[in-house]
Amino acid sequence: MIFRLFGNVSQRVPSFLYRVSLMMKPQVVFVLGGPGAGKGTQCSNIVENYSYTHLSAGELLRAEQARDGSEVGYLISTYIKEGKIVPVEITINLLKKAMEETMQKDEKKFRFLIDGFPRNEDNLEGWNKVMDSKADVKFVLFFDCSNEVCVSRCLERGKNSGRTDDNRESLEKRIQTYLHSTRPIIELYAKLGKVRTIDASRSVDEVFADVKVILDKEG
Ligand code: ADP
Ligand code: C5P
Ligand code: MG
Repeated sequence: MIFRLFGNVSQRVPSFLYRVSLMMKPQVVFVLGGPGAGKGTQCSNIVENYSYTHLSAGELLRAEQARDGSEVGYLISTYIKEGKIVPVEITINLLKKAMEETMQKDEKKFRFLIDGFPRNEDNLEGWNKVMDSKADVKFVLFFDCSNEVCVSRCLERGKNSGRTDDNRESLEKRIQTYLHSTRPIIELYAKLGKVRTIDASRSVDEVFADVKVILDKEG
């Protein structure tokens, strides 16, 4: 019995080590900008043209909110409607799981666009605690756009999005959260020379042309 067990383990260890040695450390680009700046739109364009996997923190939270049996669904729904940032313990677990699942399915998929994260100090602390040693943050792609343009794009999106936060009342709160909580995080990365700023007020194609210049240069 012992012999059999031992035999199995010794057969498994080399192949496990081999798989781990093949796995690349995840390479991450954080994608930030105001609500409606065009983060999701540009991430879709990037995925079509480059080998990146798009993970939107907001979309992961909405999916968790809608999941049957979720213990945090109600909490997430209230935070989203109020334009507040959900405690990072929830968000980081969703991101980590999505990254691990992506890489387990295909180890060549180690480049990630993490859209809408880190949005405040709590998010950043959570990332540093859980993921900093496990992934490399290459830079922050910052879609810069006036609040007026952000609000009008979200209101337009709200006609069909079914989102509980694409309305004037929630948007006022989301803009305040962006200005007071997210901009300081962008400033922090800027001081480290890690922010690539794009004027996001132009057309989708014009914005993407600038995105391409950055990605062609920095991968
Ligand atoms: P975010 O993910 O930053 O909230 P989205 O990519 O969802 O933003 O875009 C918000 C809305 O604005 C969507 O309805 C989208 O179709 C539209 N949109 C995105 N980029 C542009 C652009 N450059 N010009 C005009 N409308 C845009
Ligand atoms: O990025 P998106 O617009 O999809 O985010 C929608 C909402 O999801 C945010 O306004 C916020 O309430 C929540 N969110 C969060 N933490 C993040 C990203 C999104 O709490 N890192
Ligand atoms: Mg989005």
